[in-house]
Amino acid sequence: MMRSLAENPLRDSSRSERGAAPVVMVIFGASGDLTARKLIPALFDLGCERRLPSQFAVVGLSRSPLSHEAFRERLKAGVHSFARHDDAPPQMWENFSKGIFYHSGDLKDPQTYEKLKALLAQVDKERGTAGRRLFYLSTSPNYFPIILEQLSQAGMLEDPETSKVIIEKPFGTDLETAQALNQKVLSVAKERQVYRIDHYLGKETVQNLLVFRFGNAIFEPLWNRNHLSHIQITVSETVGLEGRAGYYEEAGVLKDMVQNHLMQLLCLVCMEPPVAFDAKSVRDEKVKVLKALRLDSGVGGDLSRSVVRGQYASGWAGSLRVPGYREEPDVQVDSSTATYVALKFAVDNWRWKGVPIYLRTGKRLTKRVSEIALQFKDVPQQLFPDEAPSPNVLALRIQPDQGVSLRFEAKRPGPKIQMQPVNMDFRYGSAFGMETPEAYERLLLDCMVGDQTLFTRADEVEEAWRVVAPVLQGWEENRVPLSIYQAGSWGPEESDRLIQQDGFRWRRL
Ligand code: BG6
Repeated sequence: MMRSLAENPLRDSSRSERGAAPVVMVIFGASGDLTARKLIPALFDLGCERRLPSQFAVVGLSRSPLSHEAFRERLKAGVHSFARHDDAPPQMWENFSKGIFYHSGDLKDPQTYEKLKALLAQVDKERGTAGRRLFYLSTSPNYFPIILEQLSQAGMLEDPETSKVIIEKPFGTDLETAQALNQKVLSVAKERQVYRIDHYLGKETVQNLLVFRFGNAIFEPLWNRNHLSHIQITVSETVGLEGRAGYYEEAGVLKDMVQNHLMQLLCLVCMEPPVAFDAKSVRDEKVKVLKALRLDSGVGGDLSRSVVRGQYASGWAGSLRVPGYREEPDVQVDSSTATYVALKFAVDNWRWKGVPIYLRTGKRLTKRVSEIALQFKDVPQQLFPDEAPSPNVLALRIQPDQGVSLRFEAKRPGPKIQMQPVNMDFRYGSAFGMETPEAYERLLLDCMVGDQTLFTRADEVEEAWRVVAPVLQGWEENRVPLSIYQAGSWGPEESDRLIQQDGFRWRRL
């Protein structure tokens, strides 16, 4: 019997209509890269697809003085390079850019906010945005508390129905700073006004993880300790520092990628089915996973059994010779910042007890690929004496070649029993034949319609920091050596040892 749409929690009709009310998005830190490369292109793409409210405007705010016109010109170049609809007729940009304004000011000065208020009132009149505001904090994070305080002082956060705050990463630099920031945020706003961004949650394939798990009946019964031997999560990048030494020297791979993006992937893989597909139910389940999650260093608690940290030396990016991390501009010559990490986790609950979860991520690796692989247990009895079957693997590819594949053994044609692993493959591109929207498109639209499901809640972000805290501490105390790997490789050899100690190997991707 077919189930009706109303019965299916993942097909909530209000989500497909996405009706967003009139609003002005105020971007703090508007002269930064994110605005030009991601935010404005995403808004423009939404506009081209008629998903923006018809009464919509953007106000960019930064320190440097700039006319509205000059600001629009800057953003136009970004749209040409980064928007999906880069071939839209020029009229589209003309219309869209009429709703973009610029305001310069010192973020610490109350006058800046008074003037902003006046500008917003004028925008409301001209564009019909009805006093509704989305404040996007994309400055350097040390300004977050200042902006929040000033917005509150100026009375701009009072009404949770009409004002929302979007906060870019990094949300804190450790558990204590994240707690302090949460305290600040929640002293001036209600949690339901707050949207902490993790762009991985906006990726189509990441969201599809939920559909894959909970929209199909055949996988869920296998998704546990009875059938799986272990899980591997890989996010491998080929890019290096990309001129971000100022930020990255301080952050390193653990804060840049693991505490946020990889933790989110892990949560979606390991969470229990939520009772509904809404912000509270989904986030409750993710928090439960984080609470049960711990580094698995074995009985002696030796951190080097669960953590490998690495840093790239010079090598290759494709056919290009590239410098080592310490030779990158503005990096200390003796920097110990990690650009690679491999970790072994355990989830202490009924579903996952005894199933190790391995994470690895790094920069300047051989290939750009993100994948979650669930490896099944060996067959209980080997029936074909000369042939040892390799375990089944269900691989969820997140990027670049989005899809799902299932590896199983097949008989090679011929008179003898000979086995060979083969893949059953599903590819997004060929199945749907359409371009997938960028993560920021989805996330910005969700903020406008007031859907927090794909944003991290205060307790969630703190739990994720709690999980990585022992690693940070171990590194500070130098309890895990820094292994150097060649740019263009798969990372340090120690990383192979980390997984091989349990009789497994990293997948060759
Ligand atoms: C960002 C990190 O959050 O994510 C970058 O700061 C990283 O260092 C990027 O390169 C990876 O995102 P994506 O979408 O390219 O996988």
